[in-house]
Amino acid sequence: MASPLFIADLEFSRAVIQAPMAGGITTPELVAAVSEAGGLGSLGAGYLTPEAIIDATHAIRALTPTPFAINLFAPTHDAPGCDTDQALNALKACYADAGVEMPTTFSTMPDFDAQFEAMLSVQPALLSFTFGLLDRKYIDACRARHIALVGTATTVFEANGLARSGVDAIVLQGEEAGGHCGSHNPAGAGQPLLPLISECRAHIALPLIAAGGLMSTLDIHRALQAGADAAQCGTAFLLADEAGTSDTWRRALKDTHESDATDITYAVSGRAARGLKNAWMGPQAPRDLAPYPMQHQLTAPLRRQSTGPKWKSLWAGKQVHHIRSGSAADILETLTH
Ligand SMILES: Cc1cc2nc3c(=O)[nH]c(=O)nc-3n(C[C@H](O)[C@H](O)[C@H](O)COP(=O)(O)O)c2cc1C
Repeated sequence: MASPLFIADLEFSRAVIQAPMAGGITTPELVAAVSEAGGLGSLGAGYLTPEAIIDATHAIRALTPTPFAINLFAPTHDAPGCDTDQALNALKACYADAGVEMPTTFSTMPDFDAQFEAMLSVQPALLSFTFGLLDRKYIDACRARHIALVGTATTVFEANGLARSGVDAIVLQGEEAGGHCGSHNPAGAGQPLLPLISECRAHIALPLIAAGGLMSTLDIHRALQAGADAAQCGTAFLLADEAGTSDTWRRALKDTHESDATDITYAVSGRAARGLKNAWMGPQAPRDLAPYPMQHQLTAPLRRQSTGPKWKSLWAGKQVHHIRSGSAADILETLTH
């Protein structure tokens, strides 16, 4: 897999992007190691404050002069599923089961405009985003600063919308992917990757980046054969030495040997996300859900403070049983040799 990746006027010697993984996985060390090794490292900044985005960027730049991406969550406007009191009521039994006291106040998501301004001020080579389209003003602001733009699509319809909006490349995320489905539609849960690539290739001339279940050179080769120009891999980097993956999560990943180890849940955040099967996918999971991102905030203390894997969000893709440990550079090498 020797072919380089071109996005706008950027060139990467290895056509593999380390997926942005918000929540502390994509540490400056991981991002820098992947970019330094010829891939494209991405900082998952969706949950970061503006100050933390700036600090993380400085930390990456202290480690490498090579280009990297920052990833943000496009603003969403999901219709209410149920009100907050109802959602909290449904979560009572989950907090009790975990032995975690339910707080009376919950944190909120960082303001998108403030995150965006911080991103502009540090001027990464690329801004990638998920969950929808960005308004013209954001696209123009990136253009003015020569920041390449990469949006995420889970259907041909979404990919066409992104192409029309003026992005430089599109991540096509298949339903095999770990983490949140980047659908532009709150209920979307994705579709299989390979047919999605073929269908989009027939309509779209922009670079297409395949994501979802790509854990080996062969997987990536198949995606390229279907018409993709590059691969974005998340789960493959979860056990990288440089990743911020917690010990509980690492143990659960290492214990995964079955091909049906993952499932999709809406209960953690109000949107579809794929992870290792645990209580969030089972009968104990709440049914009454607040809309994204409110549900995410309501479940955050439970996920953070509980011990063991039962109530953690253990995001991972469908092919997680092929996961390997090692340095980020070694993992990149196994994906591209
Ligand atoms: C732990 C985890 C967190 C993720 N967080 C983000 C994120 O913040 N932004 C984003 O665009 N995609 C995110 N994703 C999705 C990835 O961009 C990508 O689509 C996915 O990892 C590809 O599937 P794979 O995990 O099977 O390689 C995340 C994936 C994982 C596994």
